[in-house]
Amino acid sequence: MPGVVLVGAQWGDEGKGKATDLLGSRVDYVVKFNGGNNAGHTVVIDDEKYALHLLPSGILSPGVVPVIANGVVVDIEVLFEELDALIERGVDVSRLLVSGSAHVIAPYHRTIDKVTERFLGKRRIGTTGRGIGPAYADKINRVGIRMWDLFDEKILRAKIEGSLDQKNHLLVKVYNRRAITVDETLEDLLRYAERLRPMVTDTAVELNKALDAGKNVLFEAGQATMLDVDHGTYPFVTSSSATAGGAVTGSGVGPTRIDSVIGVIKAYTTRVGEGPFPTELFDDKGELLRKTGGEYGVTTGRARRTGWYDSVIARYATRINGLTDIVLTKLDVLTGLEKVPVCVAYDVDGVRHDEMPTDQTAFHHAKPVYEELDGWWEDISRARSFEDLPKNAQAYVKALEEMSGTRISAIGVGPKRDEIIPVHDLIHSR
Ligand code: GDP
Ligand code: IMO
Ligand code: MG
Repeated sequence: MPGVVLVGAQWGDEGKGKATDLLGSRVDYVVKFNGGNNAGHTVVIDDEKYALHLLPSGILSPGVVPVIANGVVVDIEVLFEELDALIERGVDVSRLLVSGSAHVIAPYHRTIDKVTERFLGKRRIGTTGRGIGPAYADKINRVGIRMWDLFDEKILRAKIEGSLDQKNHLLVKVYNRRAITVDETLEDLLRYAERLRPMVTDTAVELNKALDAGKNVLFEAGQATMLDVDHGTYPFVTSSSATAGGAVTGSGVGPTRIDSVIGVIKAYTTRVGEGPFPTELFDDKGELLRKTGGEYGVTTGRARRTGWYDSVIARYATRINGLTDIVLTKLDVLTGLEKVPVCVAYDVDGVRHDEMPTDQTAFHHAKPVYEELDGWWEDISRARSFEDLPKNAQAYVKALEEMSGTRISAIGVGPKRDEIIPVHDLIHSR
């Protein structure tokens, strides 16, 4: 009964979409369990490029049942925009299931996300502006709206009234914005209710039954370990549980049903938005990684911040998620460097830290301690076995594996579906 969790091990954009696609033909269900349309996953099939935000990447694999589980926040308009764009490209989206307990991103959540960021000024998070934080805040404050509510107009109206009451005071009196009316919100949310109704179900029942029947279920995280609300670089994080534990609370499947946890890690590091990033580069090497790696956000188009590989973070991600396997991506991007620095520890005010300091001040002061590995020049995009890689690239992968403490089970050498080196089987029992 393999239940497989796939998470980002850094600050997002590690190539989770491609890794999910890689497993697509071998799994029966792909479940998105956290986040919303703040995610941006690129999948390249033949010469076709797909950018997915709210939908799980598994929707592109024929035969897979894609599931938006209870831990997700759903912008209904975006959901249908994305579905319609896929239908236009000939993708069968008819199997999609959406949890009735998933929360709704209402238009006022997007408004509040944007005005809050503006109000924070220098202290802003650099959010994607999609209303993610405010929607999760309402969930925790117990004034959220769930999918089920869309099918009972009376209840929906009452919940919108309850939620807007306080927000309008805030919008008008603090942010100097116009008040949002209950009627306009109701109209917005009800627009797609009928089209949504057949997809909405108790997905926890469906997933547990699937596991009982011996099906393969892949739980695909949005965002990543260092953006997790508990374990990331708080407050510069997203508002959901992007680590392996989130797969359990975000889907209603118990922890005993998870067999393996795959961490997707780039061969270097990137980050979008604000917050600390010890190995960040501000020189031409950083620009080279950005250009060669095509490091521009799929969701907001922002240039991603770039830096060297950080093994302290890889060890942290291994521990927090209980990783069993690593998919190392974008090794090809490092081709052509004389030396490749790797961060092995931090220097925090003169003291060496081999493990991640979770105290915010210490992490902000962390300076990388580098070890320099030898680079390689050969084009590796056609390598399909570990032995095909140049010796120095092999040594780089081996060093990363040793430092992270988890075996590297696949190596990405290009964006396309087949540009991957399989090392160990990614679907296995415990
Ligand atoms: P996600 O959010 O984790 O799904 O990742 P994104 O799609 O935001 O960013 C990863 C980018 O790297 C995408 O443009 C992928 O097509 C690309 N990519 C994935 N794996 C590889 C790889 O091994 N090599 C190269 N060059 N690109 C890759
Ligand atoms: P994928 O799934 C990279 C970042 C934002 C911001 C912070 C909070 O493609 O890896 P939010 O809108 O979530 O409240 O923003 O989190 N962020 C991401 N960075 N990849 C993502 O998703 C991200 N989703 C959110 O840039 O710093
Ligand atoms: Mg992304």
